Amino acid sequence: MKRRIGEIAVWRVREFTVNHFELRDGVLHCEDVPLPLIAREVGTPVYVYSTAAMQRHARVFKSALASLRDPLVAFAVKANPNVAVLATLAAEGFGADVVSGGEYRRARAAGIPADQIVFSGVGKTADEMELALEGGLFQFNVESLAEAEMLSHVAVSMGRVAPISFRINPDVAAGSHAKISTGGAQDKFGINAADLIRAFEMARELPGLEAKGIAVHIGSQLTRLEPLEAAFTKLGELIVELRAAGHSITVADLGGGLGVPYDPAAPLPPSPADYAALVDRIAAGWGLRLVFEPGRLIVGNAGVLLTRVIRLKEGPKCPFVIVDAGMNDLMRPSLYDAWHGIEAVAPRGDNIVADIVGPVCESGDTFARARVISQVEPGDLMVIRTAGAYAATMGSTYNSRPLAAEVLVNGSEWAVVRERQDVEALIAGDIVPPWLPTGGRADGASRRGGT
Ligand code: LLP
Repeated sequence: MKRRIGEIAVWRVREFTVNHFELRDGVLHCEDVPLPLIAREVGTPVYVYSTAAMQRHARVFKSALASLRDPLVAFAVKANPNVAVLATLAAEGFGADVVSGGEYRRARAAGIPADQIVFSGVGKTADEMELALEGGLFQFNVESLAEAEMLSHVAVSMGRVAPISFRINPDVAAGSHAKISTGGAQDKFGINAADLIRAFEMARELPGLEAKGIAVHIGSQLTRLEPLEAAFTKLGELIVELRAAGHSITVADLGGGLGVPYDPAAPLPPSPADYAALVDRIAAGWGLRLVFEPGRLIVGNAGVLLTRVIRLKEGPKCPFVIVDAGMNDLMRPSLYDAWHGIEAVAPRGDNIVADIVGPVCESGDTFARARVISQVEPGDLMVIRTAGAYAATMGSTYNSRPLAAEVLVNGSEWAVVRERQDVEALIAGDIVPPWLPTGGRADGASRRGGT
C-alpha cells in the first residue's frame, strides 16, 4: 500500500514512541490519567512522566540489540536522574552511565547494581573516584592521561584495582548543536587517537589500573548515522592497532547520542533498528562486550511539562500566551534554540498563532514563536512535549522560582516522585551574616561564623 510521506512519518514516530500522551474525550491523558487531575492535585508547573513510554523505549532499544552477546545498556543518568525513573529502568535491566558522585549515588539508590555502572566525565575528582571504587563499578571511562595518573594513585591508596576504558576523541563533526557536540578535536572530551597506545602503555605501567577497552561518545540529539559510522569505524581501526601492539581488550563503549523526534514536521532521526544495524555491521565482529549509554532516546518522549496559562497579552504580530512554566523549569529552548511541541490539554477547536512565553524576566524566556496552537484562555492547561530528558534536571531557581514537582504515571496510578520545592526552604537556605541588621539565618535561626 502506498503511503504519503507524512503518514509514514507519523507511523514511524508511533512505532517507536507509541504515544502515551493522547487526547481522550477531548482531554490530554498520560496513559489512563487525565492531566487536569494531576494539575489540580499537584499544581503547575509539573513534569509528568509515563512509565509505559519509558518501558517501551527501553524494550525497543534492547530488542534492537538482541543479536549482540550480553550488551551492557547503561542509561545516561544526566538525562533524567529522578530515582523513580532510574528504578523504572533498573527493572528493565538497565545499568547507568554516571558523571558525578551524586549520579553514582542516585543510581545505587535506585537499585542499579554497581557492576553495571560506567563512570564518565572529564573532571572526576579523587573523592568521586574513591566513592565509586569503594562501592564498585563496571568501569571508569578515562578522558586524559592526567586522570589515569590520579585514578592510579587513588586506587593504590585504597588497595583496589580500577577497571578503565580510555575514551577517545575521534575528531568527527556530530552534526548536532555545537553545545551538545563532543567528538571534535576542539572539544574537551576524550584523548587524542594518536595518544591511545601511549595511554595503554601507561596504564600497564601504573599500578592500580586495569585497562579493559575503549569508549567513544560524539554528541547528543544526533539525527544522522554517518557521524556515528565515522566514529565507530575509527574505533575499529584503533582496536586493530591496540591488539597489534599486544594489548588485549574486552570492552568497547559506543556511548549514546541517538536523537528523538521533537518536531513532527522535521525528518525523523534514525530508528533504534537503523542504529543497531550500523552497530551490527561495524562492531559485531570486534569480539568485545559492547556498552551503550542512551539517555534522551529512552526518556525524552516519555515526559511533558504541564503548565497553566496565566494570561494573554497583545503582541506586535501575534499575542503572547504567558504560562506559569519558565526558562528556569525548561532551559532547552533558551539554551539551544530547541523546538518543543506545545499544545492545549483540552483544545477548544479554534486555532490561533501565538508566542508562548514564561514569567521570567528575560526575553530568552520564550518557548515558541509564532506557533499555531488551540485558542486558550487564562487558566487553561498546556503541555510542552518531549520534556522527559534534560528538562527537570536542568531546572534552576532563577527569579526565586521553586523547582517544579515531578509525577510518574503508571497505567491509572500516579505518584509525586519529587515534591515541588518549598519556597520557604529555598529562602531558609540563605544565611545572613551577623554584621547585617537582620543577622542570623534568613529563616530567623541564628548561626555564627568564625570571628
Ligand atoms: N554518554 C555520554 C558520555 C554523554 O556525555 C551523554 C550526553 C550521553 C551518553 C547521553 O547522550 P544522549 O543519548 O542522551 O544523547 N543538555 C543537552 C544534552 C547534553 C548531553 C550531554 N551528554 C540537551 O538538552 O540537549
